[in-house]
Amino acid sequence: MINTGIKAVASYVPERVVTNDELSRIVDTSDEWITSRTGIRRRHLSTGENTSQFCINIGNKLLEKTGVKAEEIDLIIVATITPDYATPSTSCQVQKALGCVNAFAFDVSAACSGFVYSLSIADKFIRSGLYKKVLVFGAETLSKITDWTDRNTCVLFADGGGGALLEPREGAGIIAEDLHARGDDISLTGRHHVVENMVCRDAEKGNPYLIMDGRAIFNFATRVVPDSVNEILEKSGLGLEDIRYIVPHQANSRIIDIVARKLKADISKFYINVDEYGNTSAASIPIALSEMSGKGMLERGDKIIITGFGAGLTWGSMLIEW
Ligand code: UT7
Repeated sequence: MINTGIKAVASYVPERVVTNDELSRIVDTSDEWITSRTGIRRRHLSTGENTSQFCINIGNKLLEKTGVKAEEIDLIIVATITPDYATPSTSCQVQKALGCVNAFAFDVSAACSGFVYSLSIADKFIRSGLYKKVLVFGAETLSKITDWTDRNTCVLFADGGGGALLEPREGAGIIAEDLHARGDDISLTGRHHVVENMVCRDAEKGNPYLIMDGRAIFNFATRVVPDSVNEILEKSGLGLEDIRYIVPHQANSRIIDIVARKLKADISKFYINVDEYGNTSAASIPIALSEMSGKGMLERGDKIIITGFGAGLTWGSMLIEW
């Protein structure tokens, strides 16, 4: 059976590192609070590069690594909630810059689940047999929608991107998925665009920033992620012992600890790099995959589960045979 395989992964984060101590000079916080409550020690923030530039850098790396020519790419999907423009899509900017003249392109908005959602979409295009080579990115410049006076959020969110080049693969690749949304819960919202026009001038001002009920999101994540991982295992007829790594969205190391405990899984099965990058939303899973691949942690045949959760609310998991 033809599945969708991951041919290569790559990532890019901006050079500028901001430490917890540096943040404690602009808001009432401390390295001790941030580290103990979130596991975050540093994050990378853009000094001007926008989301499309991250994807272009990642796309160039993927084409170079794989030897695939830009003209061979059939489809480009960018998962982001921080596009450069409302339109054109970030994926169209990437298509142009990479010279993927034969690709169609669109963005996906599913917050921190965006990369998992986008892999799922790409998988269906590839399985249809009509499209052979797809670039999927998860990239964010969350710093541009973060309120840098709000200590509840500004210590968490950061910038960066990752991506994958997908192609058909016999047997292995994307094996199972579990995707969800619950639009009735708005405990995390970002940049509210209100209607204001020639017939509507007195609209309340929209909020330009991310607003979050952290505790509610924490409880949501620790409830749905173990269920979603179990759902994937059940669908694929596998047990946790068959899974080499679980690669969760990197929001808070305490969330990952609780998920591991609920699944009765050893924490060493989970890849954690939130200490270095903070929460990069749709970018966190592909950054982790790229880092793991770079360290030689992912071998052909390894079964891994990726699992994301975030605003929407959205959540989802996927089983991939590497
Ligand atoms: O990508 C998905 C989206 N986001 C998430 O997954 C975030 C999920 N939530 C979390 O990670 C955690 O809930 C947070 C890290 C956001 C907060 O940790 P918490 O243990 O849930 O703390 P809390 O919100 O209950 O706040 C505890 C105290 C409060 O003070 P009082 O009311 O007890 O006096 C906060 O005002 O910590 C205070 N606080 C801070 N103190 C120092 C909140 N933020 C900070 C801060 N520095 N940055």
